[in-house]
Amino acid sequence: MINSVGVVRKEAENCNCLQVFFVSGSFKVDSVEAKKKEENFRETLRDMANSKYEYVKSFELEDEVMLPNLMVVRIDGRDFSRFSQVHEFEKPNDETALNLMNSCSAAVLEEFPDIIFAYGYSDEYSFVFKKTSRFYQRRASKILSLVASFFAAVYVTKWKEFFPQRKLLYAPSFSSKVVSCASAEVLQAYLAWRQQDCHANNQYDTCFWMLVKSGKSVSETQEILKDTQKQQKNELLFQKFGINYKTLPELFRQGSCLFKKKVEETVKHDENGNPVKRLRRKAVFVHSENIAGRSFWNEQPSLYNDLGHFTKDIGKIEPDFIRSFQFENKLLPLTWVVVRIDGCHFHSGCSRGV
Ligand code: GTP
Ligand code: MG
Repeated sequence: MINSVGVVRKEAENCNCLQVFFVSGSFKVDSVEAKKKEENFRETLRDMANSKYEYVKSFELEDEVMLPNLMVVRIDGRDFSRFSQVHEFEKPNDETALNLMNSCSAAVLEEFPDIIFAYGYSDEYSFVFKKTSRFYQRRASKILSLVASFFAAVYVTKWKEFFPQRKLLYAPSFSSKVVSCASAEVLQAYLAWRQQDCHANNQYDTCFWMLVKSGKSVSETQEILKDTQKQQKNELLFQKFGINYKTLPELFRQGSCLFKKKVEETVKHDENGNPVKRLRRKAVFVHSENIAGRSFWNEQPSLYNDLGHFTKDIGKIEPDFIRSFQFENKLLPLTWVVVRIDGCHFHSGCSRGV
C-alpha cells in the first residue's frame, strides 16, 4: 500500500502537453500490473525529486513570444457596461472616465520602459513593446498579468483625483491578452483594426443614445440602426439631431495614442534664476485620424526606430489577420486550474512603508 501526497505527471490525451497536479491517495499492490504501476509511480516521484521544479519551469517558458514577433498587450474592462452604469458615466462617452483611462495608461508607459506606444478608447487599451524587448523573457502570461494588474491598481488609486465627488463602489478588473505581430505590417493591421472598431462603436453608440434620449425605446432604436452603413448613421445624426459627426471630440471618435517623445523640460533653476533645461523622453498624448497610416507613423522616430516602418498604407484589413488577433488561448478541458498571484517588486513597496 502506498500513501502519498506527491506530484504526478499526467499526459493529456492526444496532446504533448504536460499537466502537473498534486494527488493524495493510495492504491493496493496485489498483481503484476499493479506492481508495474507502483514502480512507475516511484520512478515519477524520483524524477520529480531529482529535477526539482523542472516541470514548473518548463511551463513558464512555454508561452514565450518568440523574436522577431512584436508583443502587444491589450487590456479590456471586464463587464464595463455594468461598471459605467453603477458609476453613472455619461452616455455614450464620459470624458472624465476616458481621461482617467488615459492617465492610467501614461502610468503604464512610465512603469514599463519597454512599452513604446499605446492606443485606447472606451474601456480598452493596447500597449506595444519595442521589438527587441526581453521583458520577463517575453513570457506572455507574466507580461499580461503585470500590465493588467498595474493598470487596475492605478485606476483605483487615481479615481479620487478624477471623480472627487463620486465614490468608487467596487474595483474594476481588466482582462488582458498578448497579441503577437509577426512584422510591422501586422502591427499596422492590428492598430487599424482597433481604430476602426473605435470609430464604428462610437458612431453606433452616438446614434443609439441620441435616439434613446429623444424618446425611442431600446428595441425601436436597435431596429432603426440594424444594418445601417456608416454614411447612413452620419446622415441620421445630422438630419435628426443637427450633429456633424466629424465635429465631435477627437477623443471620442479617434481614441487616444500615447508614446514617448523627446521634450525639453526645466529641471531646475541656476543661481541667477535662469531655467536649466534637459531633453527628456516623456509620454505625450496625440490624436490622429489614422494611427496606422504611414504619414502618422513614419513621422515619429521613436515609433519607427523601435517598432519598424510602415511601408505602405493599408485599405481593407486581412480577415486572417483579424482572426489571429482574436485568438483566445484556452486551458485544456478537465484539468485543474490554479491561479497564483505574486507581488511584483513588493520589497521596494514595503520598505517605503506603502
Ligand atoms: P466584456 O469586455 O466582454 O467583459 O464586456 P463589457 O461590458 O466591458 O463590453 P465591451 O468591452 O464590449 O464594451 C465596453 C462597454 O463599456 C461599452 O459598451 C459601454 O457600455 C461601457 N463604457 C465604456 N466607456 C464608457 C463611457 O465613457 N460611458 C459609458 N456610459 N459607458 C462606457
Ligand atoms: Mg470590456
